[in-house]
Amino acid sequence: MSQSEKTVIRSAHEDDVDAITRIANHYVLNSGANLRLQLYEPEEWSKLLAQGSAQYPWLIAQQGPRILGYAYAASWNAREAYAWSTETTIYLAAEAAGQGVGTRLYQTLLDELTYQGFTTAIAKITSPNPGSEALHRKTGFTLIGKLADNGFKNGRWWDVGIWQRTLASATVPPKPVTTPRVLEATAIDLLPTDKSGGFQPDGWHGPLTGATGS
Ligand SMILES: CC(C)(COP(=O)(O)OP(=O)(O)OC[C@H]1O[C@@H](n2cnc3c(N)ncnc32)[C@H](O)[C@@H]1OP(=O)(O)O)[C@@H](O)C(=O)NCCC(=O)NCCS
Repeated sequence: MSQSEKTVIRSAHEDDVDAITRIANHYVLNSGANLRLQLYEPEEWSKLLAQGSAQYPWLIAQQGPRILGYAYAASWNAREAYAWSTETTIYLAAEAAGQGVGTRLYQTLLDELTYQGFTTAIAKITSPNPGSEALHRKTGFTLIGKLADNGFKNGRWWDVGIWQRTLASATVPPKPVTTPRVLEATAIDLLPTDKSGGFQPDGWHGPLTGATGS
């Protein structure tokens, strides 16, 4: 990753859909980090973004013209009583991992969720995924437990860890959750690190055979 151009974080928009699709499909094809078996089509992300970003933050990390990664939140459970909980997700392009981008992007997502009034963020992490587990630990998540042999992909069973992060104390009654803010591109500082390229971004066990376009 070039150090000369600024890295920024901003809200996602429709023009990002192709890059999001490309990044996501890399992990569908090559990794257990995403237990999906079929490639995403851009139209699917367009719909998710349009619907999801009305209620939850959808964020992009970008350097110059290159989209480095995305993070977003979504419904944890559609029942109204769960309205203060949200499920969070983050994916970076493989070459952007291990350089602090994930920490900054995810922290911004958690800050925006806190601003909106969510009280709990929940992440499901396929195990093993040392990069994602380290990121979640670093950003204040706690491992609640693991679902054993929860998904079968790439010729093996995968456990799925349930991770929880408290965003705000749960008041009685809880305040209504507000709509997300639009974030203009804001430059972030990345701490120098010697980890770039030093480890795989996730517990890579690919390539996956049999994944096809949907
Ligand atoms: C998980 C991911 C978002 C982390 O973002 P990142 O930019 O690579 O993470 P950072 O560089 O900010 O590092 C965050 C922490 O994780 C650690 N870390 C990152 N990758 C690691 C790896 N492969 N193994 C062990 N630790 C790792 C870093 O050392 C750092 O901890 P520290 O500051 O205590 O040293 C990114 O690696 C990624 O997109 N991975 C593939 C997709 C994925 O697994 N997404 C999550 C699905 S649940």
